[in-house]
Order: sequence, then structure tokens, then C-alpha cells
Amino acid sequence: MCGIVGYIGTGAVADILLNGLKNLEYRGYDSAGLALNDNDKISVYKAEGKLFNLTNIINNKEISKETYKGIGHIRWATHGKPTINNAHPHISNDEKLVLVHNGIIENYQELKEKLEKEGFIFHSSTDTETAVHLIDKEYKICNNLEQAVLKAVKQLKGAFAFCIMHQDEPNKIIAVRNHAPLILGLGDNGNFIASDIPAIIGVAKDVIYLDDKEIAVVEDKNLTIKDFDGIIKIKQKEPLNIEEESISKRGYEHFMLKEISEQPDIIRKLLSINMPDFNQPITFGSCDIYNLIKGIEKIEIIACGTSLHASKVAKSMIERLARIPVEVTPASEYIYKTNLTNEKTLSIGISQSGETADTITAVRQAKEAGAKILTITNRPNSNIVRYSDAIIPLHAGIEVSVAATKSYTAQVMVLSLFAISLAEIKDKITKDYALKLKEELKSLPTKMEEVLNNNTEYKNIASSYLDTKNFIYMARGINLATAYEGALKLKEISYINASGYAAGELKHGPIALLDENMPVLAILVPNTSTYSKVLSNCEEAHARHAPIIAVTSKDAELPTNIFKHIIRLPEISEVLSPILYALPMQMLAYYIASLLGREVDQPRNLAKSVTVE
Ligand code: M6R
Repeated sequence: MCGIVGYIGTGAVADILLNGLKNLEYRGYDSAGLALNDNDKISVYKAEGKLFNLTNIINNKEISKETYKGIGHIRWATHGKPTINNAHPHISNDEKLVLVHNGIIENYQELKEKLEKEGFIFHSSTDTETAVHLIDKEYKICNNLEQAVLKAVKQLKGAFAFCIMHQDEPNKIIAVRNHAPLILGLGDNGNFIASDIPAIIGVAKDVIYLDDKEIAVVEDKNLTIKDFDGIIKIKQKEPLNIEEESISKRGYEHFMLKEISEQPDIIRKLLSINMPDFNQPITFGSCDIYNLIKGIEKIEIIACGTSLHASKVAKSMIERLARIPVEVTPASEYIYKTNLTNEKTLSIGISQSGETADTITAVRQAKEAGAKILTITNRPNSNIVRYSDAIIPLHAGIEVSVAATKSYTAQVMVLSLFAISLAEIKDKITKDYALKLKEELKSLPTKMEEVLNNNTEYKNIASSYLDTKNFIYMARGINLATAYEGALKLKEISYINASGYAAGELKHGPIALLDENMPVLAILVPNTSTYSKVLSNCEEAHARHAPIIAVTSKDAELPTNIFKHIIRLPEISEVLSPILYALPMQMLAYYIASLLGREVDQPRNLAKSVTVE
């Protein structure tokens, strides 16, 4: 995915756009570009790599004081390498029309061939440039940017959000949305266009969320929104009540560490929203669980990456507590397999961003198959919501670091409450047991703080593994998902190869990997049916000279001779342990990556959400 911004007004255009792009950097960081318009002409600036390369170029240029509008882009490459030529904005052959794009134009190849035959010259290998020449071609026929864009978008297939400027139509920027997010910001000193809220925090007062197949003509003091047939749409603006501080590092070295530290408070917030009183039923705002599960025989959960791991935890919890069968499928697999989804299925789509293309497509398919759709997301205004019958928001605040941390524990928390609520509705647990679980949940934030206060310990342990090339994470039962999540965290930010295994599976193959260079992290939650088995698996690993880190509870009596490190956590019952046990995984991954000098918040090749299938 990429990030786009646009601004027209009396403010400092280049600074506003660069700041907007800075706050969208989580969307991609392969290259960046700006197009600025002063009274005379459009100037385009581009740089490969991180945004600061572009910022340096702009800071060394004299930007005309007459500049009153501009558009900007930050790229996560799909079509074409991250070179200057492929960086946005793309410009028409007469250098009057510029455009930035987020999405993928699926029929670009055939359009390109046609446009080339008509004499348009392409300078990049992107799909985006096709849109520039197509709009330019229509402009040359009708001499009206809005009309040209409307004619062109009807010929495009795929997902696109555009900002477009034309030198001969100085008072406007055109914004277009079709299956890629785009918002409009309204401010005192002009109007804004952006892929996401962080780009306009601190400068816009209100926001309007564009819908698919909408076009906006954005002027300094005016906004007109129409559908692709040119019919005017009246849309409500919403106040933008987000503090700039919420997207700052607040003194932390990285967003990831800041977001890790926010987790106890987020869990407190979720508890106070969804379970303010032990003796009342758990509630989820406008989502009426009782009605949602009426007639439901099966639950399926669809998600990707970290959200998929939260789904796996949920499967264990729901099956154990509420005795409803749950199937968990990676969204990218769901789309292409035979799914026995029907009107007796509750399909739950879990996505922090609500923008992940695979998850959205899978959820749409589930809806078409007749399922009821529940969405669990951190962004209740995102794309996924339009296919949902009900939403449960995560209330985790904007997550900037590419590695998901606070959204994961928020997901697991919401899903724990959901599982308990289902169990109560279905009468599958006793009142006493429900109360015990709820009391334990209430105590969780304090226990999380205790775990997170041990950062010196995590840093010390991390420093022993900086030369490590491979890592194994093992667990059994509900924390197998925690092991998968721990391994994902480590590999995505440190580039150390890490795999999660069911501990009992180790002896069926992976044990061949073990030697003194293959550390094993074992999750050992005492008083569970699998504890002694995981302990035996640790013995087997120790016999093959693997250095072992145990993550266990304070009261666990472990044989000290087989473990290189033991991380001890407050006691918690197994079914609610995944939130607490996720924290040391996050901290270890964070410190290993940061001691290795990795770009923790923006790991290579990644973007915060993946809007292509
Ligand atoms: O926004 P989503 O939850 O749909 O994102 C899913 C994955 O792309 C995401 O969790 C990814 O795996 C993160 N980089 C994990 O830290």
C-alpha cells in the first residue's frame, strides 16, 4: 500500500505535505515525491528510499512563496522497482497534469498498449502512469479536469485512490476513491486529502470519509463530492478529535516500545467499556451478541498475520468455554478454497487496520455465502466495516509501528470477553467460573505492568542472542498461537529466522535442527495438562545442546540446569494466559532488533497494512 496527501490553502504547502507523509510513513517507505503548484507551473520532486531523502531535497530548494497547492506520495512498490522513475507523482507528457495513486490498476497493460499506440510516452513501469495519460487524453477532448477524471475512472479496473492537479485549473485538486481509502480534511487555512487520519491530525478540524466510486473537487474554501455519474452527494463531516500527541513517540526511542507500554491501559479501557460491572452481562456497544449468534452452528475466523494469531487464541477460548466449533483460516487461503460457509455461520473478520485486502475479500465472500459478519477492528471507519453486520472496536489508538503489539493484545482481550460472553449466553460455564474469569481479567492490567517493568531483564537476555541466525519458539495448547506470534515478531523486525512449533511436533522433524546455535524459547504455563509434556520437550532440546529460554510463571518449579534463561510472569490461568505471555515475546523481539540497530518501526519490505491480494 502507499500513502497519498493533498493540500490547497494558505498554509506552508510543502511543510504540510511532508508532515502528512511523515505520518503516513507506516504505509510504505520505498520512495516519496511531491508536486507543488505555484502560479506559474507545477514542479515535481522525488527521492528513492525513506522520506528524509525527499525532505532533504525540498529543504535545499527555494520553494516559491506563491505555492498554494500540492500533492504528495509515499510508496510501497507493487508494479516496478522503487526507483525515481517509478516514484509518484507521475506527470503527463505536456507536464501540466500530475497524479498520485494508492492501489492497483488491474487493466493497466491493455490501456498502456492503447495509449502508446496513440502516441503517449511512458517513463515508468508503474500501473499508475496509465491513469495519468488516460486522464490527460480525456482532458484534451473536454478541457475540464473533473469531466476528464470521471470519463477516465470508468475505464479503469482495480483499486485506486487518486489526488490529481492540472496547471490550467489552478483552484482545485481532484480526489477519487475506489476500493482504496481516502479522506478529506477541513481546516481553517485550507482543505486536505489523505489516505488516513494521521496525515491531517493537527491541521484539519473536521473529516469526511469518502466512499467507493466518489470524486471530490477540493478547493481552498469549498468541497464538492459527487458519485462517478456526476451526481452530487451530501456527506456529513465529523470532528477530528485526535490529539497530535497520540501519533508522537512521547519520548520513547521507537513507536513499537511506546505501543508495547500502552497495553495495560488499553486493556483497562476495554474492560471498562465492555465489562464495567461483573454482575452485568458483558456488552460490546452496538454489537448485540445475543442476536448475532441466534441460529449459528459454526464460527469461522478470517485474518492475516498477527490478527490470525489472535484468531487462533480465540478458537481455543471459544471452543473451550462456549463449546462452539471454530474454524480459523488465513484470509489469503479462504479466498481460494471451498468454504462450507452458509447462513448458519458467523464469520468474524479480524483486522487491525480494516484495510487488509485479503481479509476484506474473504469477508465479502463469506457475506455472499450468507454468513453473518462480525468485524473486530481498530479502525471502525475502515473498508472492512462496509461488509459487516456488527463491529467490535479495539480502542487501541493509532498503531504506527509496522509490528503489531497493542492491537494484538487488544484483539485477544476482546476475544476473551467474547468467548466468556458466548459461554454465558449458551450456558456452558457456571456463574462461579465466569466470575472467576472476570476477576482474573480485571487483574490483568496490573500484572501486565509488572511484566513490562522488567525491561532490563529482557534487554540483558536479548543481548545474548544478537549473533543468532535462527530461533525456535515452542508451546502447546492455547499458547501455541503465542509462540507463532513471538516468532513472527522476532523475524519481522530483527530479520532473524524464527519458527513457532507445537512442542510435541519437534521430535517429528525440527529436532534435527537443534544444536548449540539454535536457541529454543519454550512457553511453560504451570498447572496445565501440557506443562510436563513441554518440560520433557525442553529436556529433549537440552540433550541436543540447544540454549533454552523458559517463559513461565513465578511459582513454577523448573529444573534450573536445563535453562539458559528463565522469564517469570505473574500467575494466571491458562485460558487467559495468552495476553500476559505475549508481552515477553514482544519485549525480546524489540530489544534484539533494537540492539542489532534495525529500523524497528519500519522493517524492510513491509508496510503496516497490505492492501493488495
Ligand atoms: O491490519 P491487519 O490486522 O489486517 O494486518 C494483518 C497483518 O498484515 C499484520 O498483522 C502483520 O502481520 C503485522 N506486520 C504483524 O506485526
